[in-house]
Amino acid sequence: MPAIPFNRPYAGRRAAANVEDALRSAHHSGDGPWCEQVAERLSPMVGGGRVFLTPSGTDALELACMALGLGPGDEVIVPSFTFSSTATAVQRTGATVRFADVDPVTLSMGAAQVAERVTSRTRAVIAVHYGGQSSSMAELSALCDAHGLTLVEDAAHALGGTHEGRAYGSFGALACLSFHETKNLSSGEGGALVVNDPRLYERVEQLREKGTDRSKFFRGQVDKYTWVSPGSSFLLGELLAAVLAAGLDDWDLTQARRHAGWDAYESGLASFAADHDITLHPRLPDTRHPAHLYYLLAPSGQARDELLAHCRSRHVLAVSHYQPLAESSEGRRASGPYADECPVTADVSARLLRLPLYGSMTDDEVDSVITTVRAWATDRVVHA
Ligand SMILES: Cc1ncc(COP(=O)(O)O)c(C=O)c1O
Repeated sequence: MPAIPFNRPYAGRRAAANVEDALRSAHHSGDGPWCEQVAERLSPMVGGGRVFLTPSGTDALELACMALGLGPGDEVIVPSFTFSSTATAVQRTGATVRFADVDPVTLSMGAAQVAERVTSRTRAVIAVHYGGQSSSMAELSALCDAHGLTLVEDAAHALGGTHEGRAYGSFGALACLSFHETKNLSSGEGGALVVNDPRLYERVEQLREKGTDRSKFFRGQVDKYTWVSPGSSFLLGELLAAVLAAGLDDWDLTQARRHAGWDAYESGLASFAADHDITLHPRLPDTRHPAHLYYLLAPSGQARDELLAHCRSRHVLAVSHYQPLAESSEGRRASGPYADECPVTADVSARLLRLPLYGSMTDDEVDSVITTVRAWATDRVVHA
């Protein structure tokens, strides 16, 4: 039986034709017609903010941290249960990474966890919407407002999701998207920074254009451009934007496949989960998730490892997820004097398993995954 991969990268059906078109055009670098088209199409999907395409989600996070002018002496609160980039982006500015735990139901850091870490040096909070869901953003926004903290969303999992009646990507002053091949929209590598606070437009433009006012020059607002601020190069090229455009054309199709898989896992594994003390990925109130990933929480770390090995031995390539950043060697360095305990992260990290889920997944593949997972119960009895 061919293996069912954890992820199968998807390029929209028109990707090759679009890339040829982009190659034939006179514009291969960033901010050309393909980039403009994609940024315009993404903006309503994230609530209307201005979208700047970047070479990766990591770059979007770094650009966000630079735009906030973070530096030594500042503290930024991030969850311990996230990808390293959420923290490395802070670390690169010289600011201290302050790790907070996640809520045991949403697996995202909410107001309760952030409140425990706020000090007089806290400048910003980076909220990760795990699996495209979150704790209450209204509560988190209120907490940030009360302490004068800037809210940044790491919405790498959340494109297409809504919460409390709003699109993810619209809650923070800044929000970061990823178009890595594992994400719902992919160009292999790629990302975007969504800017919801207009006061940051100019700074972001200069930072991503190598510290120059070249964007103004292209718009005819200045007659020459020059070095005006710190900066770097954070533009996505036209060829990859052409791939993203094809992915957006197929968005409804791939989202329908993802949701079909997610819903089938939920119903097909319900009795199995109840019988074996397994927690299924919950639907959260006031939230429409974008079917980015589907997880199970096993009753113990040992049970998770057994279930993982069982699936993989039957060619279903389920995987675990984030190891606690707060406990990593670099995490300890990045958090300076703090040694924050994040027990929920440690627990969840040991017990969580993600099932295959991708935009080209077939019903047969989903059925095979469900059958394989359910067979763990019988296999355990046989081998006991
Ligand atoms: C939560 C989260 N933030 C940031 C990133 C980084 O995105 P990228 O791989 O596009 O740099 C990822 C990674 O995939 C992620 O899962």
